[in-house]
Amino acid sequence: MNSFSSLLQEHRLFQPPKQFSDNAEISSMDQYSSLLKEAQFDILEHWSKQAKRIHWFSSWNTILDWKHPKAQWFKEGTINASFNCLDIHLGTEYKNKKAIIWEREDGHKIELTYAELHNKVGRFASSLKSLGIRKGESVTIYMGMNPEAIIAMLACARIGIVHNVVFGGFSAEALRDRINDSSSVCVITQAITKRRGSDIPLYDAVFSALQSCPSIREVISKDLPKSDKQETPRFHDWDSLLTSHEVVCDPLHIESEHSLFYLYTSGSTGKPKGLVHTTGGYLTHVHYSFGLVFDPKPDDVYFCTADIGWITGHSYVVYGPLMHGMTILIYEGALNHPHPGKIWELIQYHKATILYTAPTAIRAFMSAGNQIPNAFDLSSLRLLGTVGEPINPEAWMWYHSIIGNERCPIVDTWWQTETGGIMIAPIPGAVPTKPGTATMPLPGILADIVDKSGNPTPSNVGGYLVIKHPWPGMARTIFGDDARYEAVYWSEFPPNDHHEGMYFTGDGARKDDDGYFWIMGRVDDVVNVSGHRLGTAEIESALVSHPSVAEAAVVAKPDEIKGNALIAFVTVMKDRPVDIQALKQELKDHVAKEIGAIAKPEDIRFTEGLPKTRSGKIMRRLLREIVSQGTISGDTTTLEDFSSLEKLRSSDEE
Ligand code: PRX
Repeated sequence: MNSFSSLLQEHRLFQPPKQFSDNAEISSMDQYSSLLKEAQFDILEHWSKQAKRIHWFSSWNTILDWKHPKAQWFKEGTINASFNCLDIHLGTEYKNKKAIIWEREDGHKIELTYAELHNKVGRFASSLKSLGIRKGESVTIYMGMNPEAIIAMLACARIGIVHNVVFGGFSAEALRDRINDSSSVCVITQAITKRRGSDIPLYDAVFSALQSCPSIREVISKDLPKSDKQETPRFHDWDSLLTSHEVVCDPLHIESEHSLFYLYTSGSTGKPKGLVHTTGGYLTHVHYSFGLVFDPKPDDVYFCTADIGWITGHSYVVYGPLMHGMTILIYEGALNHPHPGKIWELIQYHKATILYTAPTAIRAFMSAGNQIPNAFDLSSLRLLGTVGEPINPEAWMWYHSIIGNERCPIVDTWWQTETGGIMIAPIPGAVPTKPGTATMPLPGILADIVDKSGNPTPSNVGGYLVIKHPWPGMARTIFGDDARYEAVYWSEFPPNDHHEGMYFTGDGARKDDDGYFWIMGRVDDVVNVSGHRLGTAEIESALVSHPSVAEAAVVAKPDEIKGNALIAFVTVMKDRPVDIQALKQELKDHVAKEIGAIAKPEDIRFTEGLPKTRSGKIMRRLLREIVSQGTISGDTTTLEDFSSLEKLRSSDEE
């Protein structure tokens, strides 16, 4: 039995540690309640007050213009994201403070002060301008976790170019789709990134994607391989551009509702969607939430392990912490490479004070044994965070005791690519925590749990997690597809006599007797694998694009470390003789090629037929039951082909 099990009753509250609260901005439930009341009393005034905490070139007249489902926040205001991250610090003592500490798995290290980062961003923005890239055009960034990626994002933001960061783990095909969907005019990349001792050739993937990316005019690569220079598109070396361009690049005064970035994420239907985040509202939400949830202090060394390719990398590696003048620590490589305790060594060496990571990483480190973190001095840590998936109470307790030494509050933060910033999380100096719950919505966020008809569910009854009022960080649309945006997020609970329409998160949740939110996971066909969000439909369509596959259904199976593992059920083309073992591997490789290694199914099961409803829909519920329990307990009366079910059962028993 787990040694923590006695501590895991749901009602167990962990009060904020006194030494933390004593120094916290919000240090009591009274202070928290008054902020909450203020926000409830006048939600627009609350957000307006938060917006005034960042720098605007000119102010707004309208706080929110809301025409379901289109929101515009602070719409007449003008602002610049890079100015708020960099220039505002230059006239202060933060000018020579470290902005970025970067390490790579091969031991390479670089530190950049705010002044140095400003210099590089200015030069790179001047370079982009000189290449004729204009405000409103989009640029794809396909890089590892390094200062250049951050410089590229901030340089785009400086001159109103919309950045579209694609995770470096995606394949050339996935990159191509995202470049084409966003009509990017330029790609910024690097020759290689490092991961677990291997060189990952990012530039080669770009080069291969470019064979069918007609919108690309320019390619910029850190360490541009010399042999591949061509005329169209034009290829440029990062360092040569930087040294040959002016430092001074005045930040444009950008309209609040101008797009800051697109970020692609998986949905429950095939094609990934490019969520559009705009500038003023996003910065307001990210600045506010970072301040509340991480309670930043001038001496903090803040370590968020998320990759720049995900929303956490955008909001809480780059924009939030830099607006707050943090020193951010970033690592290019795997956190357990070159040795299993690398993450702890980084914390010890750089005296990191805040660690923000994913439950899947915590579970993996937990399973590697306590002796690994115990060999390092982690006493610099004062706050721990988690994001991306539900954290199981055992992992929470391990994080609390072994990593936090029972001194550090844990902020379990619930949010999504679509929400832009944190929505549900404890305020660490004030709100008592419980293992496994993200606690309560931040003041200004009207989250609730409702049944199918939109009525709030009673305590302890599961329902759909919804947001009942627009918030500044919300995605404004899906790039090029307003109708899909409305259909996915706003049509489940449209406006009616009782409410003005609710945003549907796609998550199931319940509230306990204390009003704490327990996230129960996705209720759609989106699966969280190792904290990565994947659409089963996307993986199924990758599988059926293989010539041997007739039909495929992908479902999630609970996994102790990854949260979920993907299991694919596949029927093969009748006319093709197949070697099952060889085909298994071939299909896994095929998915890696079409999407990326993160989407590879853990197992592939072959079957002669898939269970379907009378209308021909694959009954994924049954498949989920088979993989998770090995039994079927649900209603099977709508099955058309019982024999297929029998075969699945027996293949499962083999
Ligand atoms: O299911 C929820 C889960 O991750 C989903 C959002 O994934 P993504 O857009 O990739 O953003 C992840 C980083 C913000 C949510 O719909 N999720 C995220 N945070 C939590 C969570 N589930 C439970 N607890 C969390 N703290």
